[in-house]
Order: sequence, then C-alpha cells, then structure tokens
Amino acid sequence: MGFKEGFLWGGATSANQCEGSYDADGKGLSVSDVVTNGSHTRPRRISLNRDSSYVYPSEWGSDCYRRYEEDFDLFAEMGFKAYRFSIDWSRIFPNGDDSEPNELGLAYYERFLMALRSHGIEPVVTLSHSEMPLHLVTEYGGWRNKRVIDFYVRYATTVLERYSDLVTYWLPFNEVNDMLLPMSAFGQGGIYHEGTEFFTEQPDYLNERLNALNNIMVAAARAVKAGRAINPAFHFGTMICHITQYPRTCCPEDQLLVQADDLYRNCMCSDVMLRGEYPYYAWTYFRRHDVELDLSGEERADLKAGTCDFYTFSYYQSICQTAREDEFTDQTSGNIMGGVRNPYLELTDWDWPIDPVGLRYTLNKVYDRYRVPVMITENGLGAVDTVEPDGAIHDTYRIEYLRRHIEEMKKAVDDGVDLIGYTPWGCIDLVSVSTGEMRKRYGFIYVDADDEGRGTFNRSRKDSFYWYKKVIASNGEDLS
Ligand code: BG6
Repeated sequence: MGFKEGFLWGGATSANQCEGSYDADGKGLSVSDVVTNGSHTRPRRISLNRDSSYVYPSEWGSDCYRRYEEDFDLFAEMGFKAYRFSIDWSRIFPNGDDSEPNELGLAYYERFLMALRSHGIEPVVTLSHSEMPLHLVTEYGGWRNKRVIDFYVRYATTVLERYSDLVTYWLPFNEVNDMLLPMSAFGQGGIYHEGTEFFTEQPDYLNERLNALNNIMVAAARAVKAGRAINPAFHFGTMICHITQYPRTCCPEDQLLVQADDLYRNCMCSDVMLRGEYPYYAWTYFRRHDVELDLSGEERADLKAGTCDFYTFSYYQSICQTAREDEFTDQTSGNIMGGVRNPYLELTDWDWPIDPVGLRYTLNKVYDRYRVPVMITENGLGAVDTVEPDGAIHDTYRIEYLRRHIEEMKKAVDDGVDLIGYTPWGCIDLVSVSTGEMRKRYGFIYVDADDEGRGTFNRSRKDSFYWYKKVIASNGEDLS
C-alpha cells in the first residue's frame, strides 16, 4: 500500500512568521508584533510598548504578504496539492472588539485564496496561530476573559462566511495543547503579567492558564458549530503539538509517568475537540492540582455540538521521561518542551532529538484512539543553510530528515492509518517561533534575509526543493 490518491502533499506556514507588513492595510498589532528576536541562548522579550531599540521580526517575516504570487508559483512548481497557512486575526479585526471587520484585510485574503486556487492548491487554513489582536490582551486579559470567546467567534464566522466557497479544511487553533505549558501563555493565551520581560519567564498560575485553555476550546467548538451551518462540506481539524514520549527505562514507575503525562499533554485537548467532553483523567488532574474549571452547562453542550472531524498534529521529535531523575540527568531540548536524553537518537543543531520511527508510532497511536482521518500539519528540520558561491544550497541534512520521516509515514499507511496529508513546516524559510531567528531555516525555498531583517528577500530553490518535487510527482514512491 502506498499513499492514497489525492494525498495532500504540501507545506505549512503561519502569518505572523512569514507575512511581514505588520502594519499594512489597516492591520492592528497582534501578540506576535511585540515579541523581539532572540537566539538559542537569548530568550525573546515581550515589550508591549514596542521599544525601538529592539528588533521585532514580525515586521518583515519573509515578506510573504507582498510576494505570495511568486511563492505560489514556486509551490506549484514543486507540485503542492495543499498549503497550510494562517489568516491573521489582527488583519480582520484590528483590535479584536471592532464592530465591523477590516474590509482591506478580508479582500486581501480573498485575492490570496483565489490565487492559491488558481494554482490548483488546496488551502488548509489555521484561524489562530499566535495572532490574537494585542488590544484583547491589554483591555480584556486575553483568553482568561470569556468575552474573548465571542470576539473570536465573530472573527471566525466572518471568515468562514466570506471564504465559504474557497476553503474546505479549517483548523480553529494551532497547537491548542501548547497552553498546557507556561511558556505559551502569552503567545497563545494572550495572558500577560505586568513586569514580565521574557517570553519564557512569565509568572504562571495553573488555574488561570487552564481556564483560558477551556475558553479557547469552547470558542473553537462554537466556531465549528457556526461553520457547519454555513457550509456542511467544511472539515474542521484539531491541531495538536504531539510531544511523543517514551519511558527512559522499563521500570514500572517510568511507564506510569509517561502514561499520565501523555494523556494530559497529548490527548486531553484532542479528546475534548474530537469527543466533545473532558475525559476522566482531566477531571482527576484538575482535582489534584486545585484547578476549578469555569465550564457552564451551555459550554459543555457546545463542546459536544462543535466537534472536529479530522485530526492534525505537529511532529518534530520525541522525548523520554523517567522517575529515576538522579540516574538520568542528561536533558535535550525540543519543540515547546524537552525531556531526558534518548541515547538512541541524534540531535539537531538546536538539540531537538530526531526520531522518524516515533512518527510511525504516533500515527498508529492517534489513529487507533480517534479513527478519523489524520493529517501531519507540521514536521521538519530547523538548520543553518549555506549558500554556495554559485547560489546553490545543498541541504542534504534536510532531505535526509524528511526522507526518513516519509518512509515511516508510508509504513504507517501500510499499518492501516488513514493518513490524508503532509504539510512540512516552514516550506518557505520563515522566522522561528522559539528563538525569533531567521537562520533556523526549515524551507525548501531559501529567503535571503538575516536575523535583523537585512537582505533582498529574494527566493531561491534549495536541493530539497527539487527532491520534494520528485517525491510529490511520484506520490511518495521516489524518495531517492
Ligand atoms: C510549532 C509551531 O510548534 O513549531 C510553529 O506551530 C513553529 O509556529 C514550529 O515555528 C517550529 O518551532 P521553531 O521554534 O523552530 O520555530
């Protein structure tokens, strides 16, 4: 068995990381516009007042806002069948609580979607990928405030109605479960505590963070409910940052630790969004951690009525956990969270373990749990690329990473998983979310820009571009 006919090969980005033009056409400021650049060792800073002595990478991104036609030509040349991107909420409702949407923003994405369609590429649209209007943070306290549910639903409904003939696949939120970690409280939850300087170092209050997450999931369910009434052919996907976990040893305590953490971190949000209710272990967790969930009867009913119909996830690496902390002290980094070092896996330059087999394991796990179509909406290798004097970029390491992951996807399909698409992350180079750097590149397409936004922003094809083109043309058969 190979990949099914019509498999959605493509790539993925987010508006705040690639569009640039952060104040064009009436756009308001979003949470991402007040986060400075950083590095592997220097955390990104949150500065709500945008101090001009800092560098704000969302100002330029990869300049995709202005160059999307050129980018779509390149995607089409690779043979893309799908493109996952986000609509920037702050372009449509610049303050979030505006009574009318910004027509310039709506018209922009209409042109964008029509151009994408004219290239024969299926849009997969994320409605919120760290682009909450900043005003909702400063005036309402972000997702802690239930009024934000209504603002989001108004935004989502506006967009779902306007593009109802142009889009079929919608993702209400990127990596909704990121909110289970304190470091996502600002970018995802719009939670800001006075005096916080760094992205990674907000004071954390579990009760408020989990209630904000609850509001996000209620908002998602209401958007899905509204969407199904607008166009019954719409598909809605949950989008989970899947942190695949292994016990470091076979000691029973390690199994228990991983079992509990996997349920909480990887399954809880998709259980809510696909099954329509909080699972038993969530309530146990809330009780043990003194979390009081403010969930009304009406909200419970909406969670049930607005469930998603396909499962999507990001997969970059796996981690290990252990109860024997004294024995295993070696740690690795990772997307959103790291863990104990796995001696069987190599690391990327940013210390993320590389685990293609873990992707097959994860695909089987999530398909067995939900029995709905599955799409991998992020995967890829962040690496520094070198441009040769003749302009070539020999990113063999990226080809190797992707090849090994696609091989495992193929095995998972043979295992029986209903895999419908693959959109590797950062198909065109963009700004890294964890470090704010440009030099951590994921793309098949190179963008000539550095960490300070200097460069021509011209696009060029890496070796992986030609390789992926072959992969798509052969529907995943030719990985050489
Ligand atoms: C995912 C996010 O968690 O990881 C993306 O959805 C992000 O927005 C990606 O860019 C890779 O992480 P990073 O830190 O390398 O940009």
